[in-house]
Amino acid sequence: MEGAELVREAFRDAFGGEPELISRAPGRVNLIGEHTDYNEGFVLPVAVDRAVWVALRRREDRRARVYSANFGQWTEFDVDSPRKDPSVPWADYPKGVVSELRSSKLGGFDMAIWGDMPLGAGLSSSAAIEVSVAFGLASLFGMEVNGKEMALLCQRAENRFVGVQCGIMDQFVAVLGKRGHALFLDCRDLVYEHVPISEGVSVVVCNSGVSRELASSAYNERRAQCEEAVRRVREALPEIGALRDVSPEEFEAYKHLLPEPIGRRARHVVYENMRVLSSLELLRRGDLKGFGRLMYESHRSLKEDYEVSGPELDLLVELASSVEGTLGARLTGAGFGGCTVNLVEREAVRTFEEFVGREYEARTGIRLEVYVCEVSDGAKLEEGI
Ligand code: GLA
Repeated sequence: MEGAELVREAFRDAFGGEPELISRAPGRVNLIGEHTDYNEGFVLPVAVDRAVWVALRRREDRRARVYSANFGQWTEFDVDSPRKDPSVPWADYPKGVVSELRSSKLGGFDMAIWGDMPLGAGLSSSAAIEVSVAFGLASLFGMEVNGKEMALLCQRAENRFVGVQCGIMDQFVAVLGKRGHALFLDCRDLVYEHVPISEGVSVVVCNSGVSRELASSAYNERRAQCEEAVRRVREALPEIGALRDVSPEEFEAYKHLLPEPIGRRARHVVYENMRVLSSLELLRRGDLKGFGRLMYESHRSLKEDYEVSGPELDLLVELASSVEGTLGARLTGAGFGGCTVNLVEREAVRTFEEFVGREYEARTGIRLEVYVCEVSDGAKLEEGI
Protein backbone atom coordinates (compact mmCIF):
# COMPACT_ATOMS: atom_id res chain seq x y z
CA MET A 1 0.00 0.00 0.00
CA GLU A 2 1.15 3.53 -0.68
CA GLY A 3 2.34 5.69 2.22
CA ALA A 4 -0.55 8.12 1.70
CA GLU A 5 -3.08 5.29 2.04
CA LEU A 6 -1.38 3.88 5.12
CA VAL A 7 -1.38 7.22 6.91
CA ARG A 8 -5.00 7.82 5.90
CA GLU A 9 -5.98 4.51 7.47
CA ALA A 10 -3.99 5.31 10.61
CA PHE A 11 -5.84 8.64 10.78
CA ARG A 12 -9.25 6.95 10.43
CA ASP A 13 -8.41 4.42 13.15
CA ALA A 14 -7.07 7.06 15.52
CA PHE A 15 -9.60 9.86 15.06
CA GLY A 16 -12.50 8.58 12.95
CA GLY A 17 -13.49 10.28 9.68
CA GLU A 18 -11.23 11.59 6.95
CA PRO A 19 -8.17 13.86 7.05
CA GLU A 20 -8.38 17.14 5.15
CA LEU A 21 -4.94 16.75 3.65
CA ILE A 22 -1.89 14.52 3.48
CA SER A 23 1.66 15.81 3.11
CA ARG A 24 4.86 13.93 2.46
CA ALA A 25 8.55 14.75 2.99
CA PRO A 26 11.49 12.53 2.03
CA GLY A 27 14.59 11.30 3.79
CA ARG A 28 17.97 12.23 2.36
CA VAL A 29 21.35 10.82 1.52
CA ASN A 30 24.32 13.14 1.27
CA LEU A 31 26.56 12.28 -1.70
CA ILE A 32 29.43 14.46 -0.50
CA GLY A 33 30.09 17.45 1.79
CA GLU A 34 29.97 16.06 5.34
CA HIS A 35 30.15 18.28 8.43
CA THR A 36 30.46 21.29 6.16
CA ASP A 37 26.96 22.76 6.51
CA TYR A 38 27.46 24.25 9.99
CA ASN A 39 30.78 25.65 8.76
CA GLU A 40 28.85 27.67 6.16
CA GLY A 41 30.25 25.46 3.42
CA PHE A 42 28.91 23.30 0.59
CA VAL A 43 26.87 20.08 0.46
CA LEU A 44 25.50 17.81 -2.25
CA PRO A 45 22.62 15.66 -0.94
CA VAL A 46 19.73 13.91 -2.70
CA ALA A 47 16.17 13.31 -1.46
CA VAL A 48 15.24 9.61 -1.53
CA ASP A 49 12.09 7.53 -1.93
CA ARG A 50 11.77 6.79 1.78
CA ALA A 51 9.52 9.31 3.43
CA VAL A 52 7.26 10.46 6.24
CA TRP A 53 3.55 11.10 5.60
CA VAL A 54 1.32 13.25 7.75
CA ALA A 55 -2.52 13.27 7.65
CA LEU A 56 -4.22 16.35 9.10
CA ARG A 57 -7.59 17.80 10.00
CA ARG A 58 -8.47 21.08 11.72
CA ARG A 59 -10.15 21.19 15.13
CA GLU A 60 -12.46 23.80 16.62
CA ASP A 61 -10.35 24.22 19.78
CA ARG A 62 -6.60 24.87 20.25
CA ARG A 63 -5.61 21.30 21.11
CA ALA A 64 -3.26 19.17 19.03
CA ARG A 65 -3.81 15.42 19.08
CA VAL A 66 -0.99 13.50 17.45
CA TYR A 67 -0.79 9.79 16.70
CA SER A 68 2.39 8.02 15.54
CA ALA A 69 1.49 4.91 13.57
CA ASN A 70 5.12 3.72 13.74
CA PHE A 71 5.20 3.80 17.53
CA GLY A 72 1.50 3.10 18.09
CA GLN A 73 1.52 6.04 20.54
CA TRP A 74 -0.62 9.11 21.12
CA THR A 75 0.08 12.50 22.56
CA GLU A 76 -1.94 15.62 23.12
CA PHE A 77 -0.88 19.21 23.77
CA ASP A 78 -1.95 22.81 23.53
CA VAL A 79 -0.78 24.49 20.28
CA ASP A 80 0.09 27.64 22.26
CA SER A 81 2.41 25.89 24.70
CA PRO A 82 3.96 22.64 23.46
CA ARG A 83 6.22 21.04 26.09
CA LYS A 84 8.63 18.13 26.02
CA ASP A 85 7.44 14.79 27.38
CA PRO A 86 10.14 12.10 27.74
CA SER A 87 7.54 9.33 27.41
CA VAL A 88 6.91 10.34 23.76
CA PRO A 89 10.29 11.52 22.42
CA TRP A 90 9.18 11.30 18.76
CA ALA A 91 6.61 14.03 19.51
CA ASP A 92 9.40 16.58 20.06
CA TYR A 93 9.62 17.01 16.29
CA PRO A 94 6.00 18.01 15.61
CA LYS A 95 5.96 20.04 18.84
CA GLY A 96 9.15 21.85 17.82
CA VAL A 97 7.58 22.76 14.49
CA VAL A 98 4.39 24.01 16.16
CA SER A 99 6.42 26.17 18.52
CA GLU A 100 8.27 27.73 15.57
CA LEU A 101 5.21 28.28 13.34
CA ARG A 102 3.93 30.91 15.76
CA SER A 103 1.26 32.25 13.48
CA SER A 104 -2.10 33.64 14.47
CA LYS A 105 -3.52 31.46 11.72
CA LEU A 106 -2.48 28.26 13.47
CA GLY A 107 -5.35 26.46 15.20
CA GLY A 108 -5.90 23.06 16.81
CA PHE A 109 -5.56 19.88 14.73
CA ASP A 110 -5.62 16.09 14.67
CA MET A 111 -2.60 14.50 13.04
CA ALA A 112 -1.43 10.98 12.18
CA ILE A 113 2.21 10.32 11.21
CA TRP A 114 3.62 7.32 9.40
CA GLY A 115 6.97 6.76 7.72
CA ASP A 116 8.73 3.98 5.83
CA MET A 117 12.25 5.08 6.76
CA PRO A 118 14.59 3.33 9.15
CA LEU A 119 14.47 5.57 12.23
CA GLY A 120 17.70 7.02 13.58
CA ALA A 121 19.77 5.28 10.90
CA GLY A 122 21.25 8.39 9.32
CA LEU A 123 18.71 9.06 6.56
CA SER A 124 17.37 12.00 8.52
CA SER A 125 13.97 10.74 9.51
CA SER A 126 13.91 13.70 11.93
CA ALA A 127 14.09 16.30 9.15
CA ALA A 128 11.49 14.33 7.17
CA ILE A 129 9.05 14.48 10.12
CA GLU A 130 9.69 18.18 10.74
CA VAL A 131 9.25 19.15 7.11
CA SER A 132 6.22 16.96 6.54
CA VAL A 133 4.52 18.44 9.63
CA ALA A 134 5.51 22.04 8.76
CA PHE A 135 4.41 21.67 5.15
CA GLY A 136 1.13 20.04 6.14
CA LEU A 137 0.27 22.59 8.85
CA ALA A 138 1.21 25.58 6.69
CA SER A 139 -1.05 24.25 3.92
CA LEU A 140 -3.91 23.35 6.30
CA PHE A 141 -3.99 26.83 7.86
CA GLY A 142 -3.19 28.81 4.69
CA MET A 143 0.17 30.23 5.82
CA GLU A 144 2.56 31.57 3.22
CA VAL A 145 5.95 30.00 3.89
CA ASN A 146 8.44 29.68 1.02
CA GLY A 147 10.83 26.75 0.67
CA LYS A 148 13.88 28.39 2.26
CA GLU A 149 11.86 29.75 5.18
CA MET A 150 10.31 26.32 5.69
CA ALA A 151 13.75 24.67 5.85
CA LEU A 152 15.04 27.31 8.29
CA LEU A 153 11.96 27.00 10.46
CA CYS A 154 12.42 23.23 10.72
CA GLN A 155 16.11 23.63 11.52
CA ARG A 156 15.20 26.06 14.32
CA ALA A 157 12.68 23.50 15.63
CA GLU A 158 15.48 20.95 15.88
CA ASN A 159 18.04 23.39 17.34
CA ARG A 160 15.77 25.01 19.91
CA PHE A 161 13.09 22.50 20.85
CA VAL A 162 14.70 19.11 20.17
CA GLY A 163 18.12 20.43 21.24
CA VAL A 164 20.33 19.08 18.43
CA GLN A 165 22.61 21.73 16.91
CA CYS A 166 22.26 20.41 13.34
CA GLY A 167 23.06 22.42 10.22
CA ILE A 168 20.62 23.25 7.42
CA MET A 169 21.35 20.44 4.94
CA ASP A 170 18.76 17.83 5.93
CA GLN A 171 15.78 20.14 6.19
CA PHE A 172 16.75 22.00 3.02
CA VAL A 173 16.89 18.93 0.79
CA ALA A 174 13.73 17.49 2.40
CA VAL A 175 11.95 20.65 1.18
CA LEU A 176 13.74 21.40 -2.09
CA GLY A 177 15.12 18.09 -3.40
CA LYS A 178 14.29 17.19 -7.00
CA ARG A 179 13.66 13.87 -8.69
CA GLY A 180 16.71 12.60 -10.62
CA HIS A 181 18.88 15.47 -9.35
CA ALA A 182 21.41 16.14 -6.64
CA LEU A 183 21.04 19.43 -4.78
CA PHE A 184 24.13 21.58 -4.58
CA LEU A 185 23.72 24.01 -1.68
CA ASP A 186 25.84 26.87 -0.46
CA CYS A 187 24.98 26.78 3.24
CA ARG A 188 26.03 30.41 3.76
CA ASP A 189 23.58 32.19 1.47
CA LEU A 190 21.33 29.20 0.69
CA VAL A 191 21.82 29.59 -3.05
CA TYR A 192 21.25 26.20 -4.63
CA GLU A 193 21.32 24.36 -7.93
CA HIS A 194 19.80 21.06 -9.06
CA VAL A 195 22.30 18.91 -10.96
CA PRO A 196 21.08 15.86 -12.94
CA ILE A 197 22.45 12.43 -12.00
CA SER A 198 23.03 9.98 -14.82
CA GLU A 199 20.43 7.21 -15.20
CA GLY A 200 23.27 4.70 -15.45
CA VAL A 201 24.10 4.76 -11.74
CA SER A 202 22.23 3.91 -8.57
CA VAL A 203 22.52 5.52 -5.18
CA VAL A 204 22.80 2.55 -2.84
CA VAL A 205 22.60 2.95 0.91
CA CYS A 206 23.97 0.36 3.34
CA ASN A 207 22.72 0.49 6.92
CA SER A 208 25.53 -0.69 9.21
CA GLY A 209 22.99 -1.49 11.92
CA VAL A 210 25.26 0.24 14.42
CA SER A 211 23.41 2.64 16.68
CA ARG A 212 24.17 6.35 16.61
CA GLU A 213 23.57 6.98 20.29
CA LEU A 214 26.83 8.82 20.80
CA ALA A 215 26.07 10.99 17.85
CA SER A 216 24.53 14.11 19.35
CA SER A 217 27.17 14.77 22.02
CA ALA A 218 30.06 14.01 19.66
CA TYR A 219 28.36 16.07 16.95
CA ASN A 220 28.09 19.11 19.20
CA GLU A 221 31.74 18.59 20.24
CA ARG A 222 32.86 18.64 16.58
CA ARG A 223 30.94 21.86 16.03
CA ALA A 224 32.65 23.46 19.02
CA GLN A 225 36.08 22.36 17.71
CA CYS A 226 35.38 24.02 14.36
CA GLU A 227 34.42 27.24 16.12
CA GLU A 228 37.64 27.04 18.11
CA ALA A 229 39.60 26.63 14.86
CA VAL A 230 37.98 29.78 13.48
CA ARG A 231 38.91 31.77 16.61
CA ARG A 232 42.53 30.65 16.32
CA VAL A 233 42.92 31.20 12.57
CA ARG A 234 41.51 34.71 13.08
CA GLU A 235 44.84 35.66 14.70
CA ALA A 236 46.26 35.53 11.17
CA LEU A 237 43.13 36.14 9.10
CA PRO A 238 40.87 38.44 11.15
CA GLU A 239 38.27 38.75 8.39
CA ILE A 240 37.17 35.10 8.31
CA GLY A 241 33.65 34.32 9.51
CA ALA A 242 33.72 30.51 9.30
CA LEU A 243 35.99 27.65 8.15
CA ARG A 244 34.33 28.07 4.77
CA ASP A 245 36.47 31.19 4.30
CA VAL A 246 39.78 29.34 4.72
CA SER A 247 41.37 28.11 1.47
CA PRO A 248 43.64 25.04 1.43
CA GLU A 249 46.64 27.36 0.89
CA GLU A 250 45.72 29.46 3.90
CA PHE A 251 45.15 26.34 5.96
CA GLU A 252 48.62 25.04 5.12
CA ALA A 253 50.15 28.44 5.92
CA TYR A 254 48.43 28.81 9.32
CA LYS A 255 47.89 25.27 10.55
CA HIS A 256 50.63 25.80 13.16
CA LEU A 257 48.06 27.96 15.00
CA LEU A 258 45.89 24.90 15.53
CA PRO A 259 46.67 22.33 18.24
CA GLU A 260 45.48 18.75 17.67
CA PRO A 261 42.81 17.55 17.24
CA ILE A 262 41.52 21.00 16.17
CA GLY A 263 43.98 21.04 13.25
CA ARG A 264 42.73 17.74 11.85
CA ARG A 265 39.09 18.79 12.23
CA ALA A 266 39.75 22.01 10.33
CA ARG A 267 41.71 20.19 7.62
CA HIS A 268 38.74 17.92 6.97
CA VAL A 269 36.34 20.84 6.59
CA VAL A 270 38.65 22.94 4.40
CA TYR A 271 39.40 20.10 1.95
CA GLU A 272 35.88 18.66 2.07
CA ASN A 273 34.54 21.98 0.81
CA MET A 274 37.00 21.79 -2.10
CA ARG A 275 35.89 18.23 -2.81
CA VAL A 276 32.26 19.34 -3.05
CA LEU A 277 33.12 22.07 -5.54
CA SER A 278 35.17 19.61 -7.62
CA SER A 279 32.40 16.98 -7.44
CA LEU A 280 29.91 19.52 -8.70
CA GLU A 281 32.08 20.11 -11.78
CA LEU A 282 32.54 16.36 -12.30
CA LEU A 283 28.82 15.71 -11.97
CA ARG A 284 28.00 18.46 -14.46
CA ARG A 285 30.45 16.84 -16.91
CA GLY A 286 29.07 13.35 -16.19
CA ASP A 287 32.45 12.15 -14.88
CA LEU A 288 31.13 9.76 -12.24
CA LYS A 289 34.40 7.89 -11.90
CA GLY A 290 36.10 11.10 -10.83
CA PHE A 291 33.18 11.85 -8.54
CA GLY A 292 33.49 8.40 -6.95
CA ARG A 293 37.20 8.92 -6.23
CA LEU A 294 36.32 12.05 -4.27
CA MET A 295 33.78 10.05 -2.26
CA TYR A 296 36.54 7.66 -1.18
CA GLU A 297 38.76 10.62 -0.25
CA SER A 298 35.93 12.12 1.74
CA HIS A 299 35.55 8.89 3.68
CA ARG A 300 39.26 8.73 4.45
CA SER A 301 39.17 12.28 5.73
CA LEU A 302 36.08 11.61 7.89
CA LYS A 303 37.82 8.58 9.31
CA GLU A 304 41.29 9.97 9.93
CA ASP A 305 40.82 13.70 10.42
CA TYR A 306 37.25 14.18 11.60
CA GLU A 307 37.17 10.84 13.41
CA VAL A 308 33.48 10.14 12.98
CA SER A 309 33.72 6.72 11.32
CA GLY A 310 33.95 3.32 12.98
CA PRO A 311 35.02 -0.25 12.15
CA GLU A 312 31.67 -1.23 10.61
CA LEU A 313 31.43 1.82 8.35
CA ASP A 314 35.07 1.35 7.28
CA LEU A 315 34.40 -2.30 6.52
CA LEU A 316 31.36 -1.40 4.40
CA VAL A 317 33.42 1.07 2.36
CA GLU A 318 36.22 -1.46 1.92
CA LEU A 319 33.82 -4.22 0.83
CA ALA A 320 32.01 -1.87 -1.55
CA SER A 321 35.28 -0.79 -3.16
CA SER A 322 36.13 -4.36 -4.08
CA VAL A 323 32.97 -4.76 -6.21
CA GLU A 324 33.54 -3.99 -9.87
CA GLY A 325 31.08 -1.28 -10.81
CA THR A 326 31.23 0.58 -7.49
CA LEU A 327 32.32 4.10 -8.37
CA GLY A 328 32.57 5.52 -4.86
CA ALA A 329 31.59 4.84 -1.25
CA ARG A 330 31.65 6.77 2.00
CA LEU A 331 29.85 7.21 5.28
CA THR A 332 26.91 9.58 4.99
CA GLY A 333 25.34 11.91 7.56
CA ALA A 334 26.84 12.61 10.95
CA GLY A 335 28.68 9.27 11.26
CA PHE A 336 29.28 7.25 14.47
CA GLY A 337 27.34 4.37 12.91
CA GLY A 338 24.40 4.79 10.58
CA CYS A 339 24.77 4.38 6.83
CA THR A 340 27.19 4.46 3.93
CA VAL A 341 26.30 5.85 0.51
CA ASN A 342 27.57 4.10 -2.61
CA LEU A 343 27.49 5.12 -6.23
CA VAL A 344 27.09 1.89 -8.19
CA GLU A 345 26.69 1.23 -11.92
CA ARG A 346 23.15 -0.07 -12.41
CA GLU A 347 24.15 -3.43 -13.80
CA ALA A 348 26.44 -4.06 -10.82
CA VAL A 349 23.82 -3.40 -8.12
CA ARG A 350 22.78 -7.04 -7.66
CA THR A 351 26.34 -8.27 -7.30
CA PHE A 352 26.99 -5.40 -4.91
CA GLU A 353 24.02 -6.32 -2.70
CA GLU A 354 24.93 -10.00 -2.63
CA PHE A 355 28.63 -9.60 -2.03
CA VAL A 356 28.59 -6.76 0.48
CA GLY A 357 25.62 -8.26 2.36
CA ARG A 358 27.21 -11.70 2.62
CA GLU A 359 30.69 -10.51 3.63
CA TYR A 360 29.42 -7.93 6.10
CA GLU A 361 27.28 -10.47 7.90
CA ALA A 362 30.08 -13.05 7.88
CA ARG A 363 32.53 -10.62 9.45
CA THR A 364 30.32 -8.72 11.90
CA GLY A 365 27.36 -11.00 12.56
CA ILE A 366 25.09 -8.06 11.63
CA ARG A 367 22.49 -8.52 8.93
CA LEU A 368 22.98 -5.75 6.37
CA GLU A 369 20.05 -3.69 5.15
CA VAL A 370 20.56 -2.30 1.67
CA TYR A 371 18.32 0.36 0.09
CA VAL A 372 18.60 1.02 -3.61
CA CYS A 373 17.25 4.56 -3.65
CA GLU A 374 15.27 6.45 -6.24
CA VAL A 375 16.30 10.09 -6.20
CA SER A 376 13.03 11.86 -5.40
CA ASP A 377 11.26 15.18 -5.02
CA GLY A 378 11.17 17.24 -1.85
CA ALA A 379 8.04 17.88 0.24
CA LYS A 380 4.65 17.92 -1.41
CA LEU A 381 0.95 17.59 -0.76
CA GLU A 382 -0.41 14.19 -1.64
CA GLU A 383 -3.92 15.47 -1.23
CA GLY A 384 -5.17 19.03 -0.90
CA ILE A 385 -8.25 20.75 0.41
C1 GLA B 1 23.64 15.60 10.42
C2 GLA B 1 23.14 17.04 10.54
C3 GLA B 1 23.46 17.83 9.27
C4 GLA B 1 24.94 17.70 8.89
C5 GLA B 1 25.37 16.24 8.91
C6 GLA B 1 26.86 16.08 8.72
O1 GLA B 1 22.93 14.92 9.43
O2 GLA B 1 21.74 17.05 10.76
O3 GLA B 1 23.09 19.18 9.46
O4 GLA B 1 25.74 18.48 9.73
O5 GLA B 1 25.03 15.59 10.12
O6 GLA B 1 27.24 16.49 7.45
